[in-house]
Amino acid sequence: MLLTLSVSGYRSLRDLTLPLKRLNVITGPNGSGKSSLYRAIRLLADAAQGRVIGSLAAEGGLGSTLWAGPEAFSRAMKAGDAPVQGTLRRDRVSLKLGFADEDYGYAIDLGLPQPSRSVFGRDPEIKAEAVWAGEVLNQRNMFASRAGSAVRILDDSGARVSVLNNLSAFDSMMTHAADPRSAPELLALRERMRAWRFYDHFRTDREAPARRAQVGTRTTVLSSDGSDLAAALQTIREVGDSRGLDEAIEDAFQGGSVEISVTEGLFEVEMRQHGLLRPLKASELSDGTLRYFLLVTALLTPRPPSLLVLNEPETSLHPDLLPPLARLIAQASERSQIIVVSHAAPLVEALVEAPDSAVFALEKRLGETVVPGSEAPAWAWPKR
Ligand SMILES: Nc1ncnc2c1ncn2[C@@H]1O[C@H](COP(=O)(O)OP(=O)(O)OP(=O)(O)O)[C@@H](O)[C@H]1O
Ligand SMILES: [Mg+2]
Repeated sequence: MLLTLSVSGYRSLRDLTLPLKRLNVITGPNGSGKSSLYRAIRLLADAAQGRVIGSLAAEGGLGSTLWAGPEAFSRAMKAGDAPVQGTLRRDRVSLKLGFADEDYGYAIDLGLPQPSRSVFGRDPEIKAEAVWAGEVLNQRNMFASRAGSAVRILDDSGARVSVLNNLSAFDSMMTHAADPRSAPELLALRERMRAWRFYDHFRTDREAPARRAQVGTRTTVLSSDGSDLAAALQTIREVGDSRGLDEAIEDAFQGGSVEISVTEGLFEVEMRQHGLLRPLKASELSDGTLRYFLLVTALLTPRPPSLLVLNEPETSLHPDLLPPLARLIAQASERSQIIVVSHAAPLVEALVEAPDSAVFALEKRLGETVVPGSEAPAWAWPKR
């Protein structure tokens, strides 16, 4: 379970460190930084799989994602007595992401490239990375560190040995220094982070992948586009919590039930409803009904991930469906740690009731995302 999440210099998240619980709800008004926080967690997951530079580029590059405000606010700026303006920078420009779970912590620091003549000269560079044991990074508990192109690892005798000195600025030590013999911790952490699961705005339009009949194979994890919905539902029926599935459907649509029809290997979702003579196919379901099915399937996965992140699951759901959804999410939090980004008040209010939950209500002050009332846990970044 993740205990701490920290982001610095990413869009409106100038400096945010959150103490996480089993079930975490991120909420706040438009423009407060919810989506930015969601994306920051995705970037962190990408970083450990060596994909962070490409993911940043897909978001418009480092220039667009870096905090656009001044390095610091003076007291007069905060009071509104002086205009907000930049001062001479004291620190280097950097975008930092990190987390600590019960065993390990990982952080990455990205910065501007050295001037070069390459046409890729605008790519951001990985300036520093660290993996440590325990909640807060310090000199003693750090067992792998990267500064520039050099990676050093703590060996069995407690000495820091250099394992790489020519790591490219676009490669992560998590992919290039993880070795089952010299750095099994990096490998373990990378695998752990690979299993983090993200669901973000399932498509439910007419052409949505979830509406099409598909060849089905046993599917323990719903894909992020929902294309294997029917196979994933059938897998829950056969090897998962089939009763929980029926209850979740009944909870939302009284008298309704879901079935999977298979014709010549093609799997299709069908819903039986009170009052109808024939079941409705996925192509005939309403957007909200289909999205609810997708969420049920994601949450009842027979292979619960260590971390499940849901971005605005309430989209296109009628308020009546939010309490059943909240119950499902709360139940799923017994199997996985969950982070939900939502601005649906009924969902947020219902989730607060779950044991070991936390609500982070984001606000924006002078362009910066803050969480009033949440005390930032101790945190330290690796040095460049
Ligand atoms: N580089 C940047 N520096 C500072 N602020 C930025 C930067 N890029 C975007 N922003 C601002 O950060 C704020 C947070 O955006 P975000 O998309 O996370 O909001 P949100 O809480 O998801 O809002 P909504 O509910 O409307 O989706 C926005 O006001 C956006 O304009
Ligand atoms: Mg948003």
